[in-house]
Amino acid sequence: MVVPVAGDRRQGGGSSSAVASSPAAYDPDLERLEVDLLLEGIYRHYGYDFREYAYASLRRRLWKRIEAEGLRSISALQERVLHDRSMLETLLLDLSINVTSMFRDPAFFLAVREKVVPLLRTYPFFRIWHAGCATGEEVFSMAIILEEEGLYDRARLYATDINEVVLRTAKEGIYPIDRMQEYTENYLKAGGKRSFSEYYTARYEAALFKPELLRNVVFSQHNLVTDGSFAECNVVLCRNVLIYFDKSLQERVHKLFYDSLATFGVLGLGAKETLKFSKYEDCYEELNGRHKLYRKVR
Ligand SMILES: C[S@@+](CC[C@H](N)C(=O)[O-])C[C@H]1O[C@@H](n2cnc3c(N)ncnc32)[C@H](O)[C@@H]1O
Repeated sequence: MVVPVAGDRRQGGGSSSAVASSPAAYDPDLERLEVDLLLEGIYRHYGYDFREYAYASLRRRLWKRIEAEGLRSISALQERVLHDRSMLETLLLDLSINVTSMFRDPAFFLAVREKVVPLLRTYPFFRIWHAGCATGEEVFSMAIILEEEGLYDRARLYATDINEVVLRTAKEGIYPIDRMQEYTENYLKAGGKRSFSEYYTARYEAALFKPELLRNVVFSQHNLVTDGSFAECNVVLCRNVLIYFDKSLQERVHKLFYDSLATFGVLGLGAKETLKFSKYEDCYEELNGRHKLYRKVR
C-alpha cells in the first residue's frame, strides 16, 4: 500500500485521500462524502457533533489519525470509531485542539485589567464563563487578576470544555515547570503586580498552582454545539475556539453567548476571531476592538 505524504493531503493537492493507495484517484467530493458520513456516524452513535467544524482543519486532523493508526481511508477510520469507543476518545483529543497558555496574548489580559476590571468593580457579585477553557491556564490567569484586584471573592467562574480529559488537568492545576518562564513574562506584560512564583510551588518537573485560586471556580463539561446556556454571566471569554467552527456554527454560538450575557456584560474572543459579519455585531459595542473585547448594549 502506498500512503501518500500527509503534506499533499493537507493542501488538498494531487494526492489521494478517499483511498490512500491510488494517488491518481484523489476525489475531493468522495472524501467530503466520507467525512460527512464519519461525522454523522459519530454524532448519531455517540452524540458528539463535529458536523459544522471548519472543514480544512478537521480533515487535516482526521488524516493525521488515519496515518497514526496505519489505516487507509476515512471510511476505515469510521469503521474503527463506530466499533471502538477508545478510538472515539482518541479522536476527541485530536479534534479538540487544546493548545493554551497562561496570560495567552498578554495584551488581551492587560486590556481585561484596564477595561473589564473597572466594570466588575461596580458589581457586588459577578459571573465569568470561560467557554473552551482547555487545561485551565486561562482560568488561572483570570483568577490571578481578580485576586490582585481584590475582586476574587465577588466572583464565580465557570470553566467549561467539551473534553473531560483536559478539564481533569485544569482541576489539578499542575503544569510543566519549563513553561513558567514564558508564563512569568506573559504575566508581567499583562500587568502582573506581584512575583509570579507566589502562585505556584515548584516540585521537580511540575508547578502546582495554589488550589485557593480555584475556590470559586466550577468546572463542567459543556458542549458549545449541543448544550444551552446555564447562567446569566457578566463576562464570557471564549478564545481560540470559534476558529475551529464554520460560519453557521459560529453564528449559533454567538447566539448562545448573547443569551448567556447580562446587559452590559462583556464578551472576549481570540485574536483571530471577531463579531464582525455576525448579526449580533450590532448588539455590542467595542470595549477594546483590537483585543476583541465587546460589551453587550442591547
Ligand atoms: C485552542 S483551545 C483554547 C483554550 C483557551 N480558551 C485559550 O484561548 O488558550 C480550544 C478548546 O476548545 C474546546 N472545544 C472545541 N470544541 C468545543 C465545543 N464544541 N464545546 C466546548 N469546547 C470545545 C477544545 O476542547 C479546546 O480545549
